[in-house]
Amino acid sequence: MCAMTTLGDLEKARRKNDLKTALARIGRKYLVMSGKGGVGKTTVAVNLAAALASGGARVGLLDIDLHGPSVATALGLTEALKTDGDDKLIPALSECGLKVVTIQGLLTGRDEAVIWRGPKKVNAIKQFFSEVAWGELDYLIIDSPPGTGDEPMTALQTMPDLRPLMVTSGHRLSINDVAKAFSFLRTMERPAFGLVDNQSWYVCPRCEEETDIYDRQAAEKLAARENVPLLATLPMDLAAARSAEEGRPLTWSAPDHPFSRKVFDLAKRI
Ligand SMILES: Nc1ncnc2c1ncn2[C@@H]1O[C@H](COP(=O)(O)OP(=O)(O)OP(=O)(O)O)[C@@H](O)[C@H]1O
Ligand SMILES: [Mg+2]
Repeated sequence: MCAMTTLGDLEKARRKNDLKTALARIGRKYLVMSGKGGVGKTTVAVNLAAALASGGARVGLLDIDLHGPSVATALGLTEALKTDGDDKLIPALSECGLKVVTIQGLLTGRDEAVIWRGPKKVNAIKQFFSEVAWGELDYLIIDSPPGTGDEPMTALQTMPDLRPLMVTSGHRLSINDVAKAFSFLRTMERPAFGLVDNQSWYVCPRCEEETDIYDRQAAEKLAARENVPLLATLPMDLAAARSAEEGRPLTWSAPDHPFSRKVFDLAKRI
């Protein structure tokens, strides 16, 4: 039987090659993830990417939350993504040269939903690497949906050097689900790079008094149990919330704010 090379094979080989070339031009890659929804993955990813970019690094921010993309809103981006002469997607350019790609930039309206299952999602995520003109980057920060489904799994399988950055809050529901996400990483033999605690305590904007909302030691205990460093503990902060509502990360709008300083410290640790 003679082996035949089909057009499909050629296209697959081209994509594989494009993927390899694109990934080789990207420095450190981080997957911001959590077993739990709403704990602040997007807030951490966006503020961290913004902090790194304002320090002069070449940074890409990729949103692989296909069903609930938030990065465009968090950065006030509304434009549709365009393609270049090679048919590659051109990332949207935010402040400080931050390059941003999100599925939202490919949808026709703000409320349009992505109704995809497994294989389609896997392909879409792979194309975010092979079919995007990322260029040379020092950092790629990836914001993922909650849980351990197709999206984080595909990203981890596509990039052997992708470092998982886990986000939790101090409440039991989060700690329990994040422990499951650590177990997922163990099964994938991809140890977490570190843990970030978000919104376990509150700083009063008037008197700066700190109030514990949840167990403030819970993340520290989880980090010790999982043998990963606790890289940052970010409070629930009114300014951070307002700045997200306004579509500009606090690390840009108020870099000297205590919340921003904590994110800049996190940026130094990665
Ligand atoms: N440290 C914080 N202080 C104040 N508000 C915060 C903080 N972290 C997150 N928030 C707010 O909480 C809400 C949820 O945060 P975010 O979207 O970052 O969570 P998420 O984990 O990405 O959620 P999802 O699982 O839906 O993707 C947002 O409105 C965000 O602005
Ligand atoms: Mg999110």
